[in-house]
Amino acid sequence: MEMVVFENEPEVLMENISNKGHRDTSAAPGLKLYRCVAVSFGLLCILQVALNISLRLPLNCEARTKQLTEERDELKGNLNDSILGHEDEIKILTGERDELKRRLDDIISGNEAKIKTLTGERDELKRRLDAFTHRSHNGWLYFSHSFYYISQIKKTWHDSRNDCLKRGADLVIINSREEQEFIKGLVQNLMWIGLSKRDGIWEWVDGTRLAQSFWCSGEPNNHKSGNEDCGEIRSCSDDHGWNDEECSYSSLWICEKKMAL
Ligand code: BGC
Ligand code: CA
Repeated sequence: MEMVVFENEPEVLMENISNKGHRDTSAAPGLKLYRCVAVSFGLLCILQVALNISLRLPLNCEARTKQLTEERDELKGNLNDSILGHEDEIKILTGERDELKRRLDDIISGNEAKIKTLTGERDELKRRLDAFTHRSHNGWLYFSHSFYYISQIKKTWHDSRNDCLKRGADLVIINSREEQEFIKGLVQNLMWIGLSKRDGIWEWVDGTRLAQSFWCSGEPNNHKSGNEDCGEIRSCSDDHGWNDEECSYSSLWICEKKMAL
């Protein structure tokens, strides 16, 4: 490579510099303008960006706030709807629960009442069964809702009645043909029955007046002494029937205790 050397290089350079300085001086206004425009444009861009940022941020914030507010309101609405829906459901369920509880209480109280009634009935039946068993085991005979006891010793009519009363019974009251037939089967001899005369009128030991009677033929005759004020059952000429007899006589007797099973 060949080197080119200028002998007057410094002068040329100086002249170029001088000429350049002259040309630079002539080109400076355009450059400055260009620079000014560029700088201005840059500033405008910066300003624009700043404006965009400063203006859009508030706009974005406002939009975001609006959106969030709407979402909040929607959620609030949904929540309220949900709460209201659940309140209705809770109200219905509470009503159903209360109704079921009321029905359960009714059933329980009804059952308690039934249990109380059944317990009372059971106790009453047990009491009657015990009484029935007790009399059955102590020589009493049962016929048509009554127990009958035949004495083994003889007493006056009044003492006989007292004995029956002590046994929780009374002298027998015969108030049907069926009962008369049953008593006839028990008669061993003379036996006091619950019939006596008060103020000349025959009545049973429970105070009822004599209605249906089964006197022996010719009785009551108030025989001899005229004090035959008590009733007995005995053998008549052809059957067993009633006779009026003095109350002071000693005879066997029949007690009766009414007891429905
Ligand atoms: C009795 C009377 C009864 C009479 C009937 C007597 O032994 O004491 O009451 O009327 O028998 O023949
Ligand atoms: Ca008589």
